[in-house]
Amino acid sequence: MDENEMIAEEARAAAERAADSKELYEAKMQFLGRQGRVTALMKRMKEIAQEMRPAFGKQVNALREKLEEMFSQHEEHMKEREMAKKLAAEQVDVTMPGRKHGAGALHPVTRVKNELIDIFAGMGFEVFEGPEIENDYYNFTALNTPADHPARDMQDTFYLTDEFLLRTQTSAGQIRLMEKKKPPIKMLSPGRVFRSDDDATHSPMFHQMEGLVVDKGITLCDLQGMLDEFARTMFSATSKTRLRPSYFPFTEPSVEVDVSCHICGGKGCSLCKGTGWIEVLGAGMVNRHVLENCGVDPDEYTGFAFGMGIERIAMLKYGINNIKLLTENDVRFLEQFKE
Ligand code: DAH
Repeated sequence: MDENEMIAEEARAAAERAADSKELYEAKMQFLGRQGRVTALMKRMKEIAQEMRPAFGKQVNALREKLEEMFSQHEEHMKEREMAKKLAAEQVDVTMPGRKHGAGALHPVTRVKNELIDIFAGMGFEVFEGPEIENDYYNFTALNTPADHPARDMQDTFYLTDEFLLRTQTSAGQIRLMEKKKPPIKMLSPGRVFRSDDDATHSPMFHQMEGLVVDKGITLCDLQGMLDEFARTMFSATSKTRLRPSYFPFTEPSVEVDVSCHICGGKGCSLCKGTGWIEVLGAGMVNRHVLENCGVDPDEYTGFAFGMGIERIAMLKYGINNIKLLTENDVRFLEQFKE
């Protein structure tokens, strides 16, 4: 009897000590499991005198029932406690403000590229994209720059093999398009170009926008008219252009195109170094050799071409003083271009 009382007391204490369902189950098994204390008591039946056995059996069974009842009550409480704990841990505060995901913004180079396409598409140009890995013929030879031509030194070229290179200029697209398409042509060719060149205003990879117009009776006036329209839309409503003689192998005559300074309006400031003008692109009348190389008769057709650096336009337009800012992708810099 006393032993039963003691076992019951110990079982109650073990159940109370249990911190979770697992510990409670282990405690229960210690008493009611197959190796448990109550089962062990039952096994002692053999050692007991025959006439005492029914009474002994009854007492052990009563103890078993009592403990089963006690453990099942604890189990129920434990379940409730654990559920309450789980609910508290998973509680959601529906009044808490949500996390904000700021909208991104287009990169300034992408913005200027899109704007250029908008401007020239409005004048009937179609976009044509050539490959970034070019062969020597399209990048140089067909553009009237054969192997021994000194103008090859104007651009520091990354050669991949003797024949293949990373294009140094989108001008290669002129040839590729003219081989495919007969005039009239109005082409705009944006893309990445590569040169072994690196300082505050030059980067080994940058973007150019090439333009090409070929038709009967095209003159330098057409070129300047279209570039005026470009300058007015890109920089300011009062922008003007100025053509200066220059040299490119693929154009004759060749010009350097300046735009009146959009900061001082032409009076002279630090951006235009006091001149009132900013150089923005190279252009000219397509050299007759280039037309001939593409099977276009230069006595029937004439054309103009131009090429500009998109980074340069973006830097001028937004007052960016280092080209590296355009490739570092510092969010603090890029955020300033949100609309
Ligand atoms: N390809 C020249 C460069 O990268 C830019 C250029 C000049 C393109 C005159 C032209 C052009 O189409 O007519 O420096």
